[in-house]
Amino acid sequence: MHSFTQHTPTEIVFGKNTESKVGELVKKYGGTRVFVVYGGGSVERSGLLERVVQNLKKEGLQVETKGGVKPNPRLDFAREAVKEAIEFNADFTLAVGGGSVIDTAKAVSHGIANPNIDIWEFWSKTTPLTKTSPVGVILTLAAAGSETSDSAVLTNTEIQIKRGLGTDFNRPEFAIMNPELTYTLPKYQVGCGIVDIMMHTLDRYFTLTEGNLLTDEIAEGLLRTVIKCGKTAIKDSHDYDAMSEIMWAGSLSHNGLTGLGAEKDFAPHQLGHELSAKFDIAHGASLSAVWGAWATYCYPVKVKRFVQFADKVWGITGDDEEAVAKEAIAKTVAYFKSLDMPTCFSEAGEVGLKNDDELKQMADGCSYGGTRSIGSFKPCDKEDIYQIYKLANK
Ligand code: NZQ
Ligand code: ZN
Repeated sequence: MHSFTQHTPTEIVFGKNTESKVGELVKKYGGTRVFVVYGGGSVERSGLLERVVQNLKKEGLQVETKGGVKPNPRLDFAREAVKEAIEFNADFTLAVGGGSVIDTAKAVSHGIANPNIDIWEFWSKTTPLTKTSPVGVILTLAAAGSETSDSAVLTNTEIQIKRGLGTDFNRPEFAIMNPELTYTLPKYQVGCGIVDIMMHTLDRYFTLTEGNLLTDEIAEGLLRTVIKCGKTAIKDSHDYDAMSEIMWAGSLSHNGLTGLGAEKDFAPHQLGHELSAKFDIAHGASLSAVWGAWATYCYPVKVKRFVQFADKVWGITGDDEEAVAKEAIAKTVAYFKSLDMPTCFSEAGEVGLKNDDELKQMADGCSYGGTRSIGSFKPCDKEDIYQIYKLANK
């Protein structure tokens, strides 16, 4: 087991009607002037936003709201929100939504604390982030895990780059998680969420690090749980038990727990970010569209790891290790398909089939012009990335 540091300070308040504690929690973490960030309207339609604003005001807090965050959240919008939050003199940012809203709120919190620095400097790593202001979350979609993660992802549309910022300053103070708030999700978003949650564990699980028994067991248990409950959730988003398991798994899958002591891979996430940046495809769909190709290309590096995955997650065993590994990959891809998620480019509407030049351009973009490799299970350079995109291009 490698040495590690794990810092997951977020207070989790889980269960029915927990959003009624929001004012209390904001005050506990020092907020007096609350800048509430939300998305394209789902929380207005459900009445959640109104209840939240009333609750905050009842606690004597000043409130300003900012709606309009789009999926694959944009840098421009975040910059505008920072400006408004500073004008309002906000000392607390509250996200009411899914990953895109939470990541925008994280950007706002960094902007409030660093009013003289353009926030993209933190994402482009030209200026290190050394301080922030507090963020709280009311989660409405189990997927990205941003409610407890150390990450925030923004898209710079000017240069078509989607980039993550990883720092403990991204950990929210609290996350209110009421599974009932996810009942209004369209089936497509439930599917995207299940894929993303699985991928946050798979991108850690496929590692060359040996001997992480407990971390492996946690990861395998999480995957089995999400696969099982996902089958129910995709049919009925009002199933409290299934939506609860998925919501809790979403946080655990991306707070670091399922990869402790091991080197992370995350190549499929990087492959997917390129698709989202260029074609604005939903994050979960970008991952299911490339994972089968990534696994097919990379499994020979350590067939035994895929054999363990086959046994512990899918119950597939056999003497022919190659065959077992391939069957586990096929089973995972078939599961994504059963959720109506795309498993190649032609199924990912916004992406579609590409010609060779386009594939090369995508590989160029994903490898930052050939200047970086992605992943650690098999470090993939520009040529590897091109080969993986080629496999997904069907
Ligand atoms: O905008 P509204 O109207 O609210 O609708 C949203 C949006 O259209 C809708 N939605 C959310 N909750 C709903 C709901 N609709 C009905 N009922 C509800 N209860 O769902 C749509 C997608 O929302 P979004 O926030 O974009 O989804 P998700 O949570 O999957 O977040 C995706 C973003 O997070 C990033 C992704 O790259 C992507 O930009 N990620 C962030 C990570 C992190 N910060 O740790 C890690 C992830 O790997 C990921 O990269
Ligand atoms: Zn993800």
